[in-house]
Amino acid sequence: MTEEQLQALLQEMTTAEKVGQLTQFAGAFYSEQEDSTPVTGRIEFPVDEEMIKQSGSVLGVAGATKLAAIQREHLKKSRLGVPLLFMADVINGYETIFPIPLGLGATWEPDLIEKLQTISAKEAASAGLHISFAPMADLVRDPRWGRVMESTGEDPFLNGLFAAATVRGLQGEGSLIAKDRVGACVKHFAAYGLAEGGRDYNTVDLSERELRDKHLPAYEAALDAGVKLVMTAFNTVHSIPATANSALLRDLLRGELQFDGVIISDFGAVQELIPHGVAENEAEAAKKALEAGVDIDMMSLAYTHSLAALLDKHAIDSALLDEAVLRVLQLKNELGLFEDPYRGVSPQKEQAIVGHPSHHAFAQTVAEKSMVLLKNDNVLPLTKETTVALIGPYADNQDLLGEWSIFGKPDQTTTLKQAFQGHFAHAMYATGSHLYERDEALLTEATMVMEQADCLVLALGEGKDRSGEGRSRSSITLAPCQIELARLAKETGKPVIVALFNARPLDLTELEPYADAILECWHPGSEGAQAAVALLSGEVNPSGKLTMSFPRATGQIPVYYNAYQTGRPLPPGSNERFFSRYIDIPNEPLYPFGYGLSYTSFSYSNRSLSAVEWDGSASLTVSVDVTNTGKIDGVETVQLYIQDLVGEVVRPVKELKSFQKITLSPGETRTITFEITHDMLQYYHSDLTYASDSGQFRVYVNGSSVCEQENTLTFSLVKS
Ligand code: NOJ
Repeated sequence: MTEEQLQALLQEMTTAEKVGQLTQFAGAFYSEQEDSTPVTGRIEFPVDEEMIKQSGSVLGVAGATKLAAIQREHLKKSRLGVPLLFMADVINGYETIFPIPLGLGATWEPDLIEKLQTISAKEAASAGLHISFAPMADLVRDPRWGRVMESTGEDPFLNGLFAAATVRGLQGEGSLIAKDRVGACVKHFAAYGLAEGGRDYNTVDLSERELRDKHLPAYEAALDAGVKLVMTAFNTVHSIPATANSALLRDLLRGELQFDGVIISDFGAVQELIPHGVAENEAEAAKKALEAGVDIDMMSLAYTHSLAALLDKHAIDSALLDEAVLRVLQLKNELGLFEDPYRGVSPQKEQAIVGHPSHHAFAQTVAEKSMVLLKNDNVLPLTKETTVALIGPYADNQDLLGEWSIFGKPDQTTTLKQAFQGHFAHAMYATGSHLYERDEALLTEATMVMEQADCLVLALGEGKDRSGEGRSRSSITLAPCQIELARLAKETGKPVIVALFNARPLDLTELEPYADAILECWHPGSEGAQAAVALLSGEVNPSGKLTMSFPRATGQIPVYYNAYQTGRPLPPGSNERFFSRYIDIPNEPLYPFGYGLSYTSFSYSNRSLSAVEWDGSASLTVSVDVTNTGKIDGVETVQLYIQDLVGEVVRPVKELKSFQKITLSPGETRTITFEITHDMLQYYHSDLTYASDSGQFRVYVNGSSVCEQENTLTFSLVKS
């Protein structure tokens, strides 16, 4: 349709039809076969026929046949023939499940993420979906929050690269969305990752400067990549819930950042303005949300119940309603829904595309790149001939897909045990322990199996039932029964290798001494078990690097690499009292950002800068020689960090500015160069101007965020 035709369609709509376009209900209400009882426990959800008939979009159902049937029914009833939009959370894959986003972050490969999102889009579109609620670009620092799994980590720059790659992968190029793609929705705007105490939905309080400097960049990267929708956050921003925050949505997002796509609330968030205490009733909640800029009300009845009456009373401006509806119509148009409400979907096509073997093969490659070798005291890799005992609650467990795998197939997922059987000639198994409860009989059996093996692989972790939304934990240790299993294994004196399956950085301090090696496998997706075996056996050399710090203790949280300088930084090795420190643990996390081992080793030498004084024009070159000092090919992620030594406001101890992922053969040395550009030195000053400071900067180039001071370089920015 042309813009004029869309305008004409809008003019023809009744108020009820308009409000319908701004309403999203869960799929259960549309399908007679399904249970249509309220999907949310908290809000009363009596939906009648008329509401369903008028609604504009549907949440969380998929399948070519099912969605075509819903669309057909809807079009029969819709006076003006406006098709429904189908939206769902396709976060790390549709049926072919890739690692959870925190694992995807550990690949440090945005191009890989773009490619896998293209596959996700293709599968999702073939199943009739139009929009995916990804990427989640929230910066995370608190692993107590169950949703850290949905983020790519604690770095604004890296999160931005992944968010943009996700948008490109899902949507493709240009303003129209091709039939094998879906629209993307960046969330949760803004700063949801900063919920106090890591408790989900909790208050967020941060300064405007901090918001702009650390939190906005990743959402902005998604906007720059052309993302079609933005979802509001559940939390407050500057004391006002994001969903009613017109400074955030109208002034910043629409005004300054020039976003002209659709803003959708999060699930029930419009209604939640009432318990939040900023609206007295549904009508006030609806008014506040619409005025703030929320176009679609996801799963709350506030818009449906109240907008028409508010309009009648002239309590809201009808132009606001029209604006919002037009944006929804434009989105439908960009998806080609007016020309073909089914977007060429057919069950045959769906069957040919969804779960295609090439998608699964790629999922294995991605999983291999996502896993992080945290420790290895010369026990890995394992040879094929090793007599190995695989023990633990994850040994024969199909819970590998992660919390958001709503359309995945856990019952068709290969377990570690099955993958071991295909690889090791002499492998035996025992469960050893449940995930969270001790079982004496299982322990006894495991002890007997341990006796017969040369090497013990413990498959431990935390299930998807302990991660994701609404699953904050006050303590993030492994369950005591699993620690006990590890202790028993260690007591055998045999090599103990831990393969960890979990969705957040855990406190591994207690486990670590019992393990000679630890491979962080995350919730790795459909082919995760095969990937873990490829790494444990050395068929593939580990290359993942953490993008979120692993704390030493829950009490150390938040601990992140790009923290601010304090006035009392602890001198290296010091144990003195009046410094910024804990008296019972070191300041450093157990495993830092950027860290990850390989079966080979790398050395860094000849770090140099092209100049020690720079006026900020063109670029300054930093170079380093990286050598593979081991015996096999390996992949290294060379990381560039910069520290502004004297700023107008306090500055982080270092910030990631660039990186290169390289492959080196044994003995090979490569000179790696980075161009430092002026924008890498800029940040938000106290008056919110984005600028750099003259003076000294320190440059760190290394294989992780940790780098000895003597291996750093400095230069001065001298502005003319
Ligand atoms: C609530 C979650 O916060 C959001 O991320 C998700 O997209 C919606 N539910 C829809 O499922």
